[in-house]
Amino acid sequence: MHMQSVQERAEAQSQHEQAQYTRGHQRIASELDKGYIMERDSEEVTTAYGLLPHGLFIGTPEPSASAADYVGRENGGVQSAAGVVRSDADMSAAVLNGSEAQYDPSIPVAEELLKSKLRSDPARLNRRYFDALSKSILEVVQQVRMGGGKSGRWEQERERLGGVVKTVRMIIESVFPGSTVHQVGSTVSGLALADADLDFTVLFPRGTNYTAVQCVERLAGALKLDGPFGEVKPLPRAKVPILKLKDMATGIRCDISFGNELALHNTKLLATYALLDHRVRQMTVFRELPSISLHPPESDLVTSVKHWVKRKGINFPVMGHPSSYCYTLLVINFLQRRNVIPSLQTLPPSGSGTVPERLLTTSSGSYNVYFHNEPDRLHEIWQTENEETVGELLLAFFKDFGTELDFVYKVSSVRTGGLLHKAEKNWSKDSANGRSGGGRIKHWMAVEDPFDLEQNLSSSVDRDMLHAIRGHFQVASKILCGATDLPASKSLGLETMGTAALARAVVEKICEECEPLKRGGVSGRSAAAFGGGVGRRGRKSKGIYLGE
Ligand code: GTP
Ligand code: MG
Repeated sequence: MHMQSVQERAEAQSQHEQAQYTRGHQRIASELDKGYIMERDSEEVTTAYGLLPHGLFIGTPEPSASAADYVGRENGGVQSAAGVVRSDADMSAAVLNGSEAQYDPSIPVAEELLKSKLRSDPARLNRRYFDALSKSILEVVQQVRMGGGKSGRWEQERERLGGVVKTVRMIIESVFPGSTVHQVGSTVSGLALADADLDFTVLFPRGTNYTAVQCVERLAGALKLDGPFGEVKPLPRAKVPILKLKDMATGIRCDISFGNELALHNTKLLATYALLDHRVRQMTVFRELPSISLHPPESDLVTSVKHWVKRKGINFPVMGHPSSYCYTLLVINFLQRRNVIPSLQTLPPSGSGTVPERLLTTSSGSYNVYFHNEPDRLHEIWQTENEETVGELLLAFFKDFGTELDFVYKVSSVRTGGLLHKAEKNWSKDSANGRSGGGRIKHWMAVEDPFDLEQNLSSSVDRDMLHAIRGHFQVASKILCGATDLPASKSLGLETMGTAALARAVVEKICEECEPLKRGGVSGRSAAAFGGGVGRRGRKSKGIYLGE
């Protein structure tokens, strides 16, 4: 029998180790894709490594735990958590099994793989997390949505709103005989929060010579003398003059404008977008108010940006924030750029090859108000390949607004479904091409109205305010993706949480209530750093649509 030399034995040993190493590598690679690794000493699981969105979890599982237990339950099957490694630096110092054991250097492959995973895009890091996040968003919505859980409440709500709509109509038609009162805004488009206001615009037959300012004053006068409205606030000098009302009995607020025929068309446009994909509704509003005329209560509830901007106090046009209408368009434009939905204004009607013009002529100009308005047949000409969940899209939107969107040069354009250059529109941050009384409008932030192409809907947002608002978006995106050095994840105790609990905590954390951002006060830079703060002192807003 051939006796192995020492050298041969060493070589065989080395080959054996190499083979083990390679097998180990393959196993780790495949398990890592599932988000976890279970180290085994013969049959017994000794150590669990789990990739969480905010880092690598290392812990000792219960003896009976299976890999599925580990990922499936909250703290799933993990007996003691040694800590979460959030960065390359932490990695070398990671402690196993409480305070004693050091990070195991015998698995260098795992270290390399885990490091590369930690460096990879967090959005892809852990699909479970984003599924849980999306579920969590919907859970919150379920709890708070109007009529949620209790049957019959939706009907009551509809009646309550319907009553106010009827009263407003009756009063206006008696003050302005021959006029027609149209409901517009989110309660019609299906993108409303539960406490949304009711928006109306009043139209007059051709040849009527009232100005909007006269109408606001006349209706305010009539309502102050008599009527069910506790608050009657005329804003005749706003860019588009409006009358604000609050119904005493129900607390419902109403905004009434005059001759804003475009609002009818842009409301229909938003309503059509809302019907295209459940993610439009989920991304836009936090809880869906069933509209009086449109969606039934079972249609997707939903969340996100509108509720969130409200919690952060960054949705008051009178304070120099973008309006609700403007945020809605920003979400739609983001979803267009992500290929979740198309631009309806660039698609022909079904069965036709050309995109027509549909001109609306009003006293302030002519507008092309055409858009593809057959959502049921859209699939014949356009399909999405985007399958991202609401959680992923929400994170991507926060990142887009917070850091990626080039606000210096770009214009968000729902009409084209993309971004335009400010230069094309002659909208620079220093330009003075505002239409409103020759006012000097600086276009720090630019959002094109889909039909009124000369209108920058965010022209009232100044530099510091934009910076401060973006700060909020940056903080939210960091929390959502569990950025590696985020103190918030520590303060939340996220290190040892299971995925579902983590997602719930994250949603709660990003929706924490803040004071409204005011003009003046701390500088934009420090405001952005803390995700709060305010804009430049003493600046007066110009060109706010629904504001003072
Ligand atoms: P919530 O009330 O917060 O749910 O939002 P909303 O979608 O109702 O938006 P908002 O109250 O800001 O505006 C109501 C409606 O007024 C919009 O849907 C538009 O139809 C119209 N509107 C708002 N701003 C403008 C504007 O600048 N120009 C025009 N033409 N219409 C506007
Ligand atoms: Mg509204």
